[in-house]
Amino acid sequence: MKLVAPSILAANFNKLGEEVELINQSEADYIHCDVMDGVFVPNISFGIPVIHAVHRIAQKPLDVHLMIVHPEKYVKDYFNAGASIITVHYEACVHLHRTIQLIKQLGIRASVCLNPHTPVSLLEDIIAELDMVLLMSVNPGFGGQQFIENTYKKTTELKELILKKKSKAFIEVDGGVNLEIGKKLYESGVDVLVAGSFVFNSGNPLQSIADLKSL
Ligand code: DX5
Ligand code: ZN
Repeated sequence: MKLVAPSILAANFNKLGEEVELINQSEADYIHCDVMDGVFVPNISFGIPVIHAVHRIAQKPLDVHLMIVHPEKYVKDYFNAGASIITVHYEACVHLHRTIQLIKQLGIRASVCLNPHTPVSLLEDIIAELDMVLLMSVNPGFGGQQFIENTYKKTTELKELILKKKSKAFIEVDGGVNLEIGKKLYESGVDVLVAGSFVFNSGNPLQSIADLKSL
């Protein structure tokens, strides 16, 4: 798959509705929503009411990336707010399997995110249960950071693990993605590219999304 998920973290919040309408008109597949709590990551973004407002006008599924501690406490709230995919961090879940079950019981897609330092091999016993794995290619917390090259090695390892375990999980990569990097990522088996700054700082978000889609 070659899917694109623009991150609204890089959108202009003064006109968030217009930015969502723009994604609606684009070739994007999902709307990536970055939730940060100032504890798991050193930044605070937005939460349940904003996701709910986005969902009211969104015509694409909401891909909700929870960069928060104790995500299990809020999974139901984000489901009610309109999430179609919920991603929790491996590093934030003591009982990851239980949290994944909780998400799946709601009838939506369950995804696990790995920070740049967390090895892919730690997913061996849960990969078969997952709908998606999100590999962070920057340290989570901020948009506009530089892509970490070691991510390519991780995408290859993850693809091998998915095949070995007969998992149906998509691979998503998040952080520092542009056209050149996106092309290499798709070639290494990535299914979904998240792009924030590349899309919203480009001057022509519709074209940038189309360019990513046509890689
Ligand atoms: C970072 C977020 C990313 C971020 C990506 O913590 O998870 O989704 O918005 O932004 P860019 O594409 O600017 O690196
Ligand atoms: Zn994200």
